[in-house]
Amino acid sequence: MHVPFLNLRAAHDPLRAELLAAIGEVIDTSAFAGGPFVAKFEADFAAFCKSEHAVGLGNGTDALWLSLLALGVGPGDEVITVPSTFLATAEAITYAGAKPVFIDIEEDTYTMDAALLEKAITPRTKAIIPVHLFGQVADMDPIMQVARKHGLPVIEDACQAHGAEYNGRAAGSIGDTGCFSFYPGKNLGALGEAGAVVTNSAELKQKIQMLRDHGQSRKYYHAVVGWNARMDGFQGAALQIKLKHLAKGNAARREHARRYDELLGNVEGVVIPQVARGRVHVYHIYAIRVQGRDSVLQTLASRGVSCGIHYPVPVHLQEAYRSLGYARGSFPVAERCADEFLSLPMFPELTSEQIEYVGREVSKVVGESK
Ligand SMILES: Cc1ncc(COP(=O)(O)O)c(C=O)c1O
Repeated sequence: MHVPFLNLRAAHDPLRAELLAAIGEVIDTSAFAGGPFVAKFEADFAAFCKSEHAVGLGNGTDALWLSLLALGVGPGDEVITVPSTFLATAEAITYAGAKPVFIDIEEDTYTMDAALLEKAITPRTKAIIPVHLFGQVADMDPIMQVARKHGLPVIEDACQAHGAEYNGRAAGSIGDTGCFSFYPGKNLGALGEAGAVVTNSAELKQKIQMLRDHGQSRKYYHAVVGWNARMDGFQGAALQIKLKHLAKGNAARREHARRYDELLGNVEGVVIPQVARGRVHVYHIYAIRVQGRDSVLQTLASRGVSCGIHYPVPVHLQEAYRSLGYARGSFPVAERCADEFLSLPMFPELTSEQIEYVGREVSKVVGESK
């Protein structure tokens, strides 16, 4: 049997006619950059995220970067985040002119350890970016408490957490802004590149709308220096259609995760993901932890099970960030996790036969590797 890590074709085949018709409408109305299809998606996505506003953008990195700019973060400032994330979280901070400052993650949820937050705050700290890694919301109550005590804004990196929940609140709706990526492999994926910010602040919405469109207050009148970070019309049209299937897809992922948990929960040498109280996980990634991860991955590949690694090198140890001066040992939990994470196949259309096969093969390979 061959089990792919991801199968986008399986998600798009049943929607093909609807997607093609929507693409046709965009062509017929020439609504290519921004426009009514993007506006309709923004309204739908804001409602889905239980937020007042959504602003459609070119990608998730834009969402993080423009959130920082709209909140006034700039040169000389520090922004606290975690090293267990995709590089974009830190890149956005760097491109705002600020310095990323990392704190370690919790060993069980793999998200920001709120107990370490206050100690990392300095007079230069201007914002905090928790990352909802793999689809589980970080522990937002204590993070927001510390942030509010110090008058700091919070930007949620919800790029992997469309539809996740924290004590009944939607991912992205808890901080000052919530940032989403619609990269094709995400739980809500575009037919290309796209992203969005959600917010309950009319002022931040307006600033980000301006920043995404060259800082224009009206056509050819530029109030600030912005950028071109608009969402294109094809993506707005496609995302409107795909959003209608997101909740069902997330529920399927949770069901697959439950079965993986049953199959692997008692296997010696395998650590399964933990879901903290009050949280609804959306399993963008189902990552287990194993010793000898690289050889386990190779052996599984030879038996038809395609896995991934998210991410092999934590951000503080990436060559791109050598100048920050961190070393191995700076963030022991993030480093241990990066050595051990193994992402199993996860997408809504996985069949139960595929899940049973993956579960069996993982138990066998981990057993053999001892
Ligand atoms: C945690 C995280 N942050 C930011 C991003 C950046 O999003 P994009 O690739 O759409 O720019 C991603 C997506 O890959 C991500 O997973």
